[in-house]
Amino acid sequence: MNRTEPLVLGIETSCDETGIGIVRGTRLLSNTIASSMEEHARYGGVVPEVAARAHLDELVPAINAAVAEAGIRLEDLDAIAVTCGPGLSGALMVGVGAAKALALALDKPIYAVNHLVGHVGADLLRTGAHSDEEPLEYPTIALLVSGGHTSLLLVRNLTSDVELLGETIDDAAGEAFDKVARVLGMLYPGGPRIDAAALTGDATAIRFPRGLSKQKDMEKHRYDFSFSGLKTSVARWVEQREDAGEPIPVNDVAASFREAVVDTLLTKAVAACVDYGVPRLLLGGGVIANARLRQVAIERTDAAGIALRIPPLSLCTDNGAMIAALGAQLIMTGHEPSSLDFGADSTLPVSQIQA
Ligand code: KG4
Ligand code: ZN
Repeated sequence: MNRTEPLVLGIETSCDETGIGIVRGTRLLSNTIASSMEEHARYGGVVPEVAARAHLDELVPAINAAVAEAGIRLEDLDAIAVTCGPGLSGALMVGVGAAKALALALDKPIYAVNHLVGHVGADLLRTGAHSDEEPLEYPTIALLVSGGHTSLLLVRNLTSDVELLGETIDDAAGEAFDKVARVLGMLYPGGPRIDAAALTGDATAIRFPRGLSKQKDMEKHRYDFSFSGLKTSVARWVEQREDAGEPIPVNDVAASFREAVVDTLLTKAVAACVDYGVPRLLLGGGVIANARLRQVAIERTDAAGIALRIPPLSLCTDNGAMIAALGAQLIMTGHEPSSLDFGADSTLPVSQIQA
């Protein structure tokens, strides 16, 4: 096995994206993503069984497309990497099964890796405009926000030391966007729609609650998040207006809600940087597409002297390239392959980088 610049194919199926990525060391060769998002639209959120079924349909075409785009042959691979958790059980199982079959058929080693750590690994990939950037330094704080997770990590070393500082105790941030969008009569996924509506809204119109940010909560849940109270608060506000027969200022509600989410996320992320004396913050996950989140992240990290990293959006949303990148990094740092008896683990802790 080439341990200097390993050629790795990564498989990601933890949620609704079927992601296949191919990397050579830290170089991105292909990043193929098929999403079942549209199939979930009429349910207003990801339906696990629908996602798992879509992965079954999409995996082989996605692998073929990624291999063609990278201009490699499957036989050339040094290893297969796959997300084994955390995520939706049924969805994970499809990817894990496919990865094992591929590894056995090709007689290649397999690296079963942690999805959340994969999001951090995305930053390693040098592409286009980012090709001459300095590599990520450690330790770094990482804020991962998507439809499935909201986690704050302290990454001392990508392949050997990742600590969970906090996470959501109820809804994920993206889930909150999706649910509030529904309240406002918008389609799934709600994040981009709320973002667009908020553009012309007044973020100070309504003061929605910042979850787990009160003094007493900050003692016990300093780095944890909660968005379900916020969602309920928005729903109540809208309901009361409707009951009173008044029009709903959708754009103001969207902007005020977005502000509450962004404020909470960044207050806690910057607090973690300051508390741990780590002047680096990496963002990841689909919610990073949010325009206001990016803007406030720049402002607050600038003010606090924190270096901010935001990988390109195609590597922030769930994808196989980040999984391949983490697999390659494990190989390059001398880690042995996973034994074939690993399984999908929907609650895999973030400290377990490789199964
Ligand atoms: O990482 P991701 O693509 O995958 C899953 O979690 O499956 O994230 C999708 C989530 C959805 O909840 C979506 O509403 C949210 O990211 N999202 C956004 C924006 N674009 C996508 N949330 C807020 N603002 C956006 N512009
Ligand atoms: Zn993710």
